[in-house]
Amino acid sequence: MSLLELNDVKVHFPVRRGVLFDRTVGHVYAVDGVSLSVEAGQTYGLVGESGCGKTTLGRAVLRLTDITSGEVVFDGTDLAALPEEEMRRSRRRLQMVFQDPLGSLNPRQNIESILAEGMAAHGIGADRTERRARIVEVLERVGLPADALSRYPHEFSGGQRQRIGIARALVLEPDLIICDEPVSALDVSIQAQVINLLEELQEQLGLTYLVIAHDLAVVRHISDVIGVMYLGALVEEAPSDLLYAEPRHPYTRALMSAVPVPDPEVEDNRERILLRGDLPSPANPPAGCRFHTRCPWRQPERCDTERPQLTELADGHRVACHYAAEIADGRIQPVRELAERILPPEPDEPAAGSDEPAGPGESSAPESSAGPGESAAPESSARLAGAAEPAEPPGSGESARPSESKG
Ligand SMILES: Nc1ncnc2c1ncn2[C@@H]1O[C@H](COP(=O)(O)OP(=O)(O)O)[C@@H](O)[C@H]1O
Ligand code: SF4
Ligand SMILES: [Mg+2]
Repeated sequence: MSLLELNDVKVHFPVRRGVLFDRTVGHVYAVDGVSLSVEAGQTYGLVGESGCGKTTLGRAVLRLTDITSGEVVFDGTDLAALPEEEMRRSRRRLQMVFQDPLGSLNPRQNIESILAEGMAAHGIGADRTERRARIVEVLERVGLPADALSRYPHEFSGGQRQRIGIARALVLEPDLIICDEPVSALDVSIQAQVINLLEELQEQLGLTYLVIAHDLAVVRHISDVIGVMYLGALVEEAPSDLLYAEPRHPYTRALMSAVPVPDPEVEDNRERILLRGDLPSPANPPAGCRFHTRCPWRQPERCDTERPQLTELADGHRVACHYAAEIADGRIQPVRELAERILPPEPDEPAAGSDEPAGPGESSAPESSAGPGESAAPESSARLAGAAEPAEPPGSGESARPSESKG
């Protein structure tokens, strides 16, 4: 049995309007039918552009956001159906690490007080002395000095603050930690340290992670399984290696092609698919396949009218595309107007893209104008195609205070 199983989870936010009478005029379909399983001791990486519903899904698991419908089965219990008091107790076992460490730590509390608060709420440690001993032990585990106890969040660097956020989760001895963009706010050089720490802790403590990121490079090495989300739903899911070796959904292929490869020879010769257009609004998602407005492989009729279901193509490889097989074997080719597909140059031709002017639609995607020589960007700085992620997406609720994460 999986430790966490989501069955057709939906989170629809009502859009209200009106001065005197509050009328519901529509819904934001932030999460619209997600089913996935996270195995104990493993890491599930959830990726997708900003606004596709990742944070909402993470918060829904902890019921920090109301679930519209569906099941969240954690260790055999449907959390969505639990009475509030039982849910509050269950939260000890499910913790969240937030994107913005400073925003999620109360600036007026010292570290001991921040960490002890959740412990006291969940009855961990008989008294202050016992709690302090446990906090000191956890601080050491996450690589912080014991004197951090009496200091305040602003006295630490970004990376250290994220370690405090991790320690705050760990003192409660959770089974599952949802890490929402755990390194997005950190310098590239610090990102790897925090990811490595998460991996070490997983090995030592047998933790299970759901790691959310808009950056494929971040989840790649840490994840056992990766799910790719687009407009509130999964479009592809596979074991990490398989997803990278054989991405099958057009959206995943486009995302993948935006990540530079460290080997310059491979980098110069690989296929690049540059997505045109913006992410449609989740308040008014396209009919049929939600990706059809941007899909370079879109086929008439069916793509516009019938929503593809996540279907198993090979062992553990699920894809939501009507034409995944035809696209994989080349029977269906992408349309050039929708995707600038930069193919490897012919042997005696000049390199494609190096001397051609950029197309009109390409200016919105920073990656698109990068010539071969500019591809030396560090892997970890690669972002999803065209996704300039704001540090704090509006309405994402990621500035939740510590108390909110513990219930
Ligand atoms: N409390 C809320 N009320 C209304 N809309 C919301 C709320 N929280 C998030 N949204 C919307 O839901 C969509 C998904 O948001 P979010 O889950 O934060 O995406 P991500 O984490 O992938 O960037 C966005 O369009 C966002 O504006
Ligand atoms: S179903 Fe059609 S529009 Fe959707 S990803 Fe597949 S080919 Fe593209
Ligand atoms: Mg988010």
